[in-house]
Amino acid sequence: MAQSKTPSPIEFEPPYPGYVFSHQHLLGIADLSPHDITHLLDRAHEAVSVSRQVEKKKVTLRGRTQINLFFESSTRTQSSFELAGKRLGADVMNMSVGSSSVKKGETLIDTAMTLNAMQPDLLVVRHHSAGAAELLAQKVGCSVINAGDGAHEHPTQALLDALTIRRHLGSVERQTVAICGDILHSRVARSNIILLNALGARVRVIAPSTLLPSGIERLGVEVFNRMEDGLPGCDVVMMLRLQRERMEGALIPSVREYFHYFGLDAKKLKMANPNALVMHPGPMNRGVEISSEVADGAQSVIQVQVEMGVALRMAVIETLIETSDRLSQKRSHRSAV
Ligand code: CP
Repeated sequence: MAQSKTPSPIEFEPPYPGYVFSHQHLLGIADLSPHDITHLLDRAHEAVSVSRQVEKKKVTLRGRTQINLFFESSTRTQSSFELAGKRLGADVMNMSVGSSSVKKGETLIDTAMTLNAMQPDLLVVRHHSAGAAELLAQKVGCSVINAGDGAHEHPTQALLDALTIRRHLGSVERQTVAICGDILHSRVARSNIILLNALGARVRVIAPSTLLPSGIERLGVEVFNRMEDGLPGCDVVMMLRLQRERMEGALIPSVREYFHYFGLDAKKLKMANPNALVMHPGPMNRGVEISSEVADGAQSVIQVQVEMGVALRMAVIETLIETSDRLSQKRSHRSAV
């Protein structure tokens, strides 16, 4: 909601004495310490107010260039990265992969090297292969953000989910969070499990065994195969999209049956704690993993997640560019002595 005409800077003081964020790239939650995660969430919390002002533009990244390189479709992630970069004052280019030389057979690396030669400060990459963002980070000179790589990680989604939980429940620590549905194909589930465990939440997964990766318990989750068993006692119910485009065989008997057993409707939601938060990273399949009544109901924070996405991505972009500047200053200082 618009509140004021003058944008204030994001005022941010790291919470831990002597703490310094030291990552040039954001490739996965697995690379971050609990302090790193808290640092980004604190900073994103401050950034929310910038997006709620009438005049939303800052100048901190004036003259900087951000390129969004999305090899998979996206509504929320790409548009929020674009808005986040623009609200920080950067020049943002959305590379249209569909009409690029990728269509003529140019490889991911050659595409990235070509863009790198144009001296960007930041590459935001979404790709269908796990490890694609990490590969690019080794080849280019600028910061790289993983905007989703195959079924591996989607770190900014997990961070914005944690920001949403923290703003509604006060803290992530000790909350019981159920992640439900297609865990097998979900990079969102993987990043969330790592992050929620790092911040001291109790994490459950609820899914049919065909949609669970083997050895999922080793990530520190309790596993349930029935919503009736996994939902009681939950503070947060996070639903996942059924990723039928990534399924090779018949992993569910039918969509109708899936919704009956694993779709979140008002009756199943009553099994969780009263006022439990309902989350979904989007895009949603209404009537497949979640009913419209629940998705649009009083406990849903799905649209808040979208709002938090812009603030969180502003915080990540600003932090990485600052870190990158600091690391390159250090390198040039060392080569001068
Ligand atoms: N949650 C998410 O990644 O959505 P998009 O695919 O629309 O970016």
